Amino acid sequence: MELRLALIGFGGVNQGLFELLLSKKDELRKYGIDTKITAVTDLRLGTVTNPSGISTDALRASIQAGLSAIPLQADPGTSVTPDSDLDATLKLIASDFVDVVVEATFTDPQTGEPALSHCRTALESSKHVITTNKGPIALAQQELVSIANRNGVFLKYEGTVMSGTPVLRQISTTLRGCEVTGFSGILNGTSNFVLGEVAAGKTFDSAIQEAQVLGYAEANPAADLEGSDVQLKVMIMANALWGAGLCRDDVPCRGITGLTESEIRRAITEGGAWRLVGSARRSSDGTIVASVEPKELPAGHPLLAATGVTNAISFDTDVLGLVTVTGPGAGRVETAFAILSDLIDIGEKVIAGATEAAA
Ligand SMILES: NC(=O)c1ccc[n+]([C@@H]2O[C@H](COP(=O)([O-])OP(=O)(O)OC[C@H]3O[C@@H](n4cnc5c(N)ncnc54)[C@H](OP(=O)(O)O)[C@@H]3O)[C@@H](O)[C@H]2O)c1
Repeated sequence: MELRLALIGFGGVNQGLFELLLSKKDELRKYGIDTKITAVTDLRLGTVTNPSGISTDALRASIQAGLSAIPLQADPGTSVTPDSDLDATLKLIASDFVDVVVEATFTDPQTGEPALSHCRTALESSKHVITTNKGPIALAQQELVSIANRNGVFLKYEGTVMSGTPVLRQISTTLRGCEVTGFSGILNGTSNFVLGEVAAGKTFDSAIQEAQVLGYAEANPAADLEGSDVQLKVMIMANALWGAGLCRDDVPCRGITGLTESEIRRAITEGGAWRLVGSARRSSDGTIVASVEPKELPAGHPLLAATGVTNAISFDTDVLGLVTVTGPGAGRVETAFAILSDLIDIGEKVIAGATEAAA
């Protein structure tokens, strides 16, 4: 079965996906899935389409030349236009040569746009959607799921929380049958890295600078350090687990910048450590309490396994007790892997649906 992909935004994550699709071609075939990239749109590159599939050599040459349109213009059958405004992108998304829209543009935590419009139009046009973009999922997950259900397509967003480390799929597959009553996690690698460096003796400023040099932190690291990135992830998790419909006001949020360097170092001497923890808990009456705040965790706490930029999440379950997953929380290829795993999931479901219909 062939899935024709439109890549919306062609930055680190979708370029990582392009590489993974090539290196994992045989792996995908094991699941009966072939993929073809028929559209790419990006602010710098413009819009590139080829209903028969864009040449991988031309795409690779474009990436190597810093997203140049020139190698793609030389590819027979490929059209390249400079348009990448919202109207052009929505038209592209609705094209009949697209089966799956992979949304990986920037995250707007206030409005979710333009990614929200990209996802909405794709689902309304009966295209499957995979996104790594927290904005539309945190702000409009229920609306998007209901459009997807109405149109018989799938919305997948594994990469929005802990990149490729399986977290959302964990609760929708392997933990089925357990009741998850709460979770708490270290869901932002940058703030965790900074806390670790300060604990080891650096000042806040030099730890942040190092995170920027290593590519972990943005030029403006506020979303990581003040907790708003984790706040979106807590909303996504709680809404996926319990259909909670949480909005940002429901998740009080405090980052790590209010901690002092001396209290971060003192915790280490006592065997524990400060961590920025995002958590949510559902009581038996259905009430959900969620928060993002720095917590001093005692020695032996399972979340202390997450050091540096590593993330971890612990689920409280009725049957298994505490189940903790640790792994990378960011990275272009790690996040692209989440898209690959979502593609396999969609491919398997579409194949199963077609088999059922034929029976
Ligand atoms: N990288 C990670 O580790 C990671 C992990 C989890 C989730 N995510 C999420 O995944 C998404 C993509 O991340 P990334 O690292 O690939 O970001 P990125 O490298 O900044 O790539 C985003 C790309 O989208 C383009 N773009 C922005 N607005 C667009 C629009 N309206 N139409 C078409 N293209 C547009 C950008 O162009 P310009 O550069 O010209 O603006 C850029 O090339 C983000 O939402 C991010 O939060 C990333």
